[in-house]
Amino acid sequence: MANKILVGAQWGDEGKGKVTDLLARTADVIVRFGGGNNAGHTVIVGDQKFELHLIPSGILYEEKINIIGNGVVLDPAALVKEMQMLEERGISLDNFFISEIAHVIMPYHRLLDKLEEERKGAGKIGTTGKGIGPAYTDKVARRGIRLVDTLDKDRFYRRLTEALDYQNLLLEKIYGVEALKAEEIMEEYQEYIDIIRKHVTDTTLLLDQARKEGKEIFFEGAQGTLLDVDYGTYPYVTSSNPTAGGVCTGTGFGPVGIDAVIGVTKAYITRVGEGPFPTELKNKIGDELREKGHEYGVTTGRPRRCGWFDIPIIKHAIRVNGLTELALTKLDVLSGMEELKVCVGYKYKGEIFQEFPLEQETLSGCEPVYESMAGWTEDIIGLANYEDLPEAARAYIEYIEKAGGVPVKIIGTGPEREQVIIR
Ligand code: GDP
Ligand code: IMO
Ligand code: MG
Repeated sequence: MANKILVGAQWGDEGKGKVTDLLARTADVIVRFGGGNNAGHTVIVGDQKFELHLIPSGILYEEKINIIGNGVVLDPAALVKEMQMLEERGISLDNFFISEIAHVIMPYHRLLDKLEEERKGAGKIGTTGKGIGPAYTDKVARRGIRLVDTLDKDRFYRRLTEALDYQNLLLEKIYGVEALKAEEIMEEYQEYIDIIRKHVTDTTLLLDQARKEGKEIFFEGAQGTLLDVDYGTYPYVTSSNPTAGGVCTGTGFGPVGIDAVIGVTKAYITRVGEGPFPTELKNKIGDELREKGHEYGVTTGRPRRCGWFDIPIIKHAIRVNGLTELALTKLDVLSGMEELKVCVGYKYKGEIFQEFPLEQETLSGCEPVYESMAGWTEDIIGLANYEDLPEAARAYIEYIEKAGGVPVKIIGTGPEREQVIIR
């Protein structure tokens, strides 16, 4: 029995959904600890494809407990849509629970997210537009509305009118748009809350009980290390801590109970949204990776920017998450490339950096220093044995292992559940 954290080691979309689905097989409880419906996690089971934004990817195993922790910001409309999608596809929600102290994304959060991106113009972050940043802002500014506040109609009305006193000032006086009405929001949200209500509870008690009973708990990260508000490419980040530390504050589960931290990383890198990306390939190779890897966002449909694997980034992720192992996904996408490049450092104003710089203007000015590696022509899709991989593919994996100093224990050889090598 081991409690494990899974985090993205890059800019998100590393394949966390697929790896969670794989590792959740042996877990009893699967927990989301941060982010919101900015996430989009894909799980493919047979001919069925599930795209999950809020509910943990473990929901496909109906006997397991699935929890949304307090670190998540919750859009009730998005949640209800996802719950209905799952129920229509025969997935039970009987063992699904949501923290009562999770903050709620309100219509003004979505509106402010868009208005602020418009105001920034060319300097925009490239957010998902789901209201994530404004919801976390209100949480920290101590004017948020929590799920528990919405369960009682009168209390919800009081909290909402207090919140609107402030939010409408912003909307009208700063952004020059129409104020929102409490009654209209109440009417819409009441419908969602009535559907969600029976799943809302103090989830710290559930986790504590699971821990005492020796159950295996799996924490499913969203986003990625470089989108972390502290350790990412600030300000081009999300507004939460998707790194491993976010588990403790985002669920109320203490650090001593954690046995392993798995970092999911693609065999190359992608990014959606704005911000520096040293190994980005704005050329035919980048286009090839995008098409072969189907690199289009699950949440917004935006094309993902693609680039070569970056060693300083993986070292940074290993460090700030305390990663104990890696899952390397999408190795199959690299098949057929004559030459592979790996970034081993950066050149900045005549200096060579071995470590990932945390200041974004410096990062923007960094030129990657590459090492070249041989590619392979063999199709590796669906391979399940490490020994069956071409020698060049094994050399690529072992190079990454050596550079990072942690083992690559899982290797993705295709999008489907069984297309994976476990070492
Ligand atoms: P997440 O946000 O980290 O869960 O990742 P996404 O679901 O947004 O994006 C990952 C995409 O890669 C999805 O379309 C997955 O089905 C797909 N995928 C995951 N692992 C592999 C793999 O090993 N090979 C290939 N070809 N696709 C993969
Ligand atoms: P998963 O869990 C990729 C990015 C957005 C934008 C920045 C801020 O699927 O890996 P936000 O809406 O959070 O304020 O946007 O963060 N972003 C993601 N990129 N995968 C995600 O989640 C992301 N969640 C947020 O594109 O650049
Ligand atoms: Mg995703």
